[in-house]
Amino acid sequence: MLRTHTCGELRLADANTTATLTGWVQTIRDKGGVLWIDLRDRYGITQLLLEDGQTAPELFTIARSLGREFVLKATGMVIERKSKNPNLPTGDIELKVTALKILNPAKLPPFLIDDETDGGDDLRLKYRYLDLRRNPVRRNLELRHRMAQQTRLFMDGQNFIEVETPVLIKSTPEGARDFVVPSRMNPGEFYALPQSPQTFKQLLMVSGFDRYYQIVKCFRDEDLRADRQPEFTQIDCEMSFVEQEDILQLFEGLIRHLFKTVKGYDLAEVPRMTYADAMRLYGSDKPDTRFGMEFVELTDLVQGKGFGVFDSAELVVGINATGCASYTRKQIDELTDWVKRPQIGAKGLIYVRHNEDGTLKSSVDKFYSEEDLKGWSERLNTKPGDLILIISGDANKARKQLNELRLEMGSRLGLRDPNVFSALWVLDFPLFEYGEEEQRWFAMHHPFTSPKPEDIPLLDSDPGAARANAYDLVINGTEVGGGSIRIFNRELQARMFSLLGFSDDEAKAQFGFLLDAFEYGAPPHGGIAFGFDRLCSIFGGADSIRDFIAFPKNNSGRDVMIDSPSTISPAQMQELSITTTVSNK
Ligand code: AMO
Repeated sequence: MLRTHTCGELRLADANTTATLTGWVQTIRDKGGVLWIDLRDRYGITQLLLEDGQTAPELFTIARSLGREFVLKATGMVIERKSKNPNLPTGDIELKVTALKILNPAKLPPFLIDDETDGGDDLRLKYRYLDLRRNPVRRNLELRHRMAQQTRLFMDGQNFIEVETPVLIKSTPEGARDFVVPSRMNPGEFYALPQSPQTFKQLLMVSGFDRYYQIVKCFRDEDLRADRQPEFTQIDCEMSFVEQEDILQLFEGLIRHLFKTVKGYDLAEVPRMTYADAMRLYGSDKPDTRFGMEFVELTDLVQGKGFGVFDSAELVVGINATGCASYTRKQIDELTDWVKRPQIGAKGLIYVRHNEDGTLKSSVDKFYSEEDLKGWSERLNTKPGDLILIISGDANKARKQLNELRLEMGSRLGLRDPNVFSALWVLDFPLFEYGEEEQRWFAMHHPFTSPKPEDIPLLDSDPGAARANAYDLVINGTEVGGGSIRIFNRELQARMFSLLGFSDDEAKAQFGFLLDAFEYGAPPHGGIAFGFDRLCSIFGGADSIRDFIAFPKNNSGRDVMIDSPSTISPAQMQELSITTTVSNK
């Protein structure tokens, strides 16, 4: 090694020994007679000292030619500092330099390489290799590394085998669009990149592997958001001879193991809730359970008093924003505008103030007596100082809108602390959802998910009411994982495909291999996949997964550093038998 120590290593106990450090110049402070350099590497920062009369003049000359981010090698004596820096682990010492060598000069970086940077998102992504030098981003990747290590340790301890599945495959119907790759050797044909290894992991169960996992890249061509990237990573798992309960327990174990070993956090036992209850109480299948503020339905109480908006509504539903009675008219108007924005789409917002003196005051006093309001207040369990916020209309829409408002109020009231973790299993998802546009049923999870055995008769009579043996793990309002018990019987799988609108021939063409496999002794099996980037971002207390991925894409799905996607040469196009002209950007 060119160094004897890292920049984060030296302590007072090393005083009066010689050391050689290498790293990047963080800052230089030149006071004339004394010059300090902060030298940084992945492990920390150590202060270098040059002193008039003590340090050779040519070293001062080198030091004065340095700029930020120059790569340096410095040798010297470790000495105790006169003024110590309690904020640095190396803050008790400095290195009194006796030799200094520039290993490589550096251009001035386009943004500050510091915890707080002046670089905007685009600039940081364009120079991601510089951004990765910054402590917060590097720490996120270190966290990711520890999460992966601990995952492997836990899974290995539970007898899971890590098996790699192919990346050049054929479309898996996970619901998003596929990324496709043209095949030179098979003109006019395409591979698809896996949206997940779903069918392969099921085949591994048929092969008798019994317990499989893989930390694996998945690819989905869908619109991007803070918690979505076109290529992302799953902890993908599958087990044979299990029931839902086995999976819930084992993977709750994994999550608790990760919290304990990576964060030193004791995660409480994970409560469970049905999809139906989650929708009723939170208007969402991924409720943020760090705070209460559950929905309370008021429809039966409020109708028939002459208020047309409520009378014509399918659902009238409210929340108790505790302690918000002091909201001014202006603040409530602002909240009303907030729910009326097109992204939320509510028609309006009704409120009832539970004043400190116990009186109730609403925005619909014209229609409701104090006695009426008392009934609402009792149902919502308000106390003096609270504020009831009510939304009405089509039931599904009203629930979605109130879900947004609940989350917003949770944020405004400081109830969504990123250092508090609340996990929830959501169970009993519907098997299907109806696509109004396409006028057909879609699998809510995926087509390999087993219906609840008691709901199989509903497949013919009322498919929309059939529940799936499917489950999601939600942490702090983010869906971090999802899975199901699978169909392992050829007839039932074929029936599923037919309900999903596949003809027999189409099902055979796309999934013949799986249907065939089910005829060669397929064991009962089930599994789950966790969004690894999402898990890391939650552990890191961040909303966006981007900073937990070394080289992420921007919101348009572009890598602005390597400038991809990009056009290919006409010769390459021809070789791939792609004849359509693609316009240059
Ligand atoms: P699902 O589609 O629910 O299930 O995906 C599993 C988990 O992956 C994460 N995730 C994503 N993370 C980042 N960017 C994305 N674009 C993205 N899409 C999904 C989520 C999600 O919970 N094969 C099934 C699993 C199974 O049934 O075993 C599957 O892929 O956290």
